[in-house]
Amino acid sequence: KNNDITVTERLELTCQLLKDNINYYDWVGFYFKNGDKDELKLRAYVGEETDHIIIPFGKGICGQVAVSNENFVVPDVQAQDNYIACSLTVKSEIVIPLFKNGENIGQIDIDSETPDPFTEKDERFLEFVNQEVAKIL
Ligand code: SME
Repeated sequence: KNNDITVTERLELTCQLLKDNINYYDWVGFYFKNGDKDELKLRAYVGEETDHIIIPFGKGICGQVAVSNENFVVPDVQAQDNYIACSLTVKSEIVIPLFKNGENIGQIDIDSETPDPFTEKDERFLEFVNQEVAKIL
């Protein structure tokens, strides 16, 4: 039996599990710092295809989290000025940084078609998911 699945496959399975089990998680993806460049690169996701594979640091919600090292919860994406729209059906977003050895190396990004669905429980839960993911990186 071959248990030798890749890290990217594990990340995809994690995205799928989250999307399948939490009804307001409509797009789930992991972005990581792209080598030594000041940009993020999408490594794994489930949901609608996106044009935003590369996101420069500072741009959009994701790019802001890459530099702030803080969770970013957006109850209403239309009210955000520094926001990169992926799909017109998206109403809200949550981005949680992923730390490895204390360094912000990436993030989990979740889009929702439900307005204002994210609570502190999502933040605590997704922080835990990222801590677990950091162990396999
Ligand atoms: N909305 C994000 C861009 C990534 S998509 O949601 C997949 C942002 O503003 O950074």
